[in-house]
Amino acid sequence: MQLLEIVIIGAGRLATHLGLAFYKQGLNTVQVYNRTPEKGGRLALRIGASFTDNVHEITLLADIYILAVSDSVLEELASKLRLKNKLVIHTSGTVEMNILAPVSSNIGVFYPVQTFSPNRRIDFQKIPICIEWNSTTAQELLTTLAEKLSKSVFHLTSDQRRILHLGAVFSSNFTNFMYAVTEELLLAHEIPFELLEPLILQTARNVKHGNLLQCQTGPAVRGDIKVLDKHRELLSDHPDYLEIYNLITENIIKLKFLHGKL
Ligand SMILES: NC(=O)c1ccc[n+]([C@@H]2O[C@H](COP(=O)([O-])OP(=O)(O)OC[C@H]3O[C@@H](n4cnc5c(N)ncnc54)[C@H](OP(=O)(O)O)[C@@H]3O)[C@@H](O)[C@H]2O)c1
Repeated sequence: MQLLEIVIIGAGRLATHLGLAFYKQGLNTVQVYNRTPEKGGRLALRIGASFTDNVHEITLLADIYILAVSDSVLEELASKLRLKNKLVIHTSGTVEMNILAPVSSNIGVFYPVQTFSPNRRIDFQKIPICIEWNSTTAQELLTTLAEKLSKSVFHLTSDQRRILHLGAVFSSNFTNFMYAVTEELLLAHEIPFELLEPLILQTARNVKHGNLLQCQTGPAVRGDIKVLDKHRELLSDHPDYLEIYNLITENIIKLKFLHGKL
């Protein structure tokens, strides 16, 4: 089979990780487009592709076009592209596939369920990739691409993907914010964050066994009012964090009553 030619549109966090993963797997990224030339040029150089910051100079000769740009610009960018029957896909957890319908007759979604940050090594083989397509041609090409990168490829509809993304926000984005808050509170008292590492890792490992409500520990679930009040006192200089603390505490207590055995 002839080597597929890929164009990556975007040079942010995901585009960079994807470009490097394609390169590692021997996939042929022929061009990178990005609004900001410095970032785009740097990615292109790393993966042996050409670079353009002019949307009208995007080659029409590739097989797959991946739009890995901010969700809010997908529609605007799509309105500038006309790629006939080429496979055109986006990588968003929330945006519906059909936003790409004006661009090509073969469209799809390639949503990797992972958090991508700069300078963090990621093994794509272990990342679930959720795909969606609008035609048999798109299905075949997209499945080939996804299976080259990952051992776990799933078909999800746009509606299912949106719910999964909501779950990703709760379980990853919000959790990371909690770590950042914790780091700030600890550092202000010269307490090393590493002291919490075993607790954090065990909490994460608990997800493997399901029944997560039963794993809930802490003063809220114990109904320990004295401890809760002490914590509220400690947060008196941080009204925003106090609000979050109270809201989550109230919800844990509500769940405890709803599920009696929590
Ligand atoms: N990061 C993740 O963990 C992750 C995981 C799964 C899926 N995704 C999805 O991947 C996509 C990209 O996310 P990301 O995290 O990689 O974003 P990012 O790092 O913030 O990069 C955003 C990209 O969009 C481009 N862009 C932003 N505004 C633009 C505009 N007005 N016109 C043209 N280009 C513009 C940026 O170009 P400049 O360089 O010029 O700013 C950059 O290439 C999103 O759909 C996101 O939902 C991300």
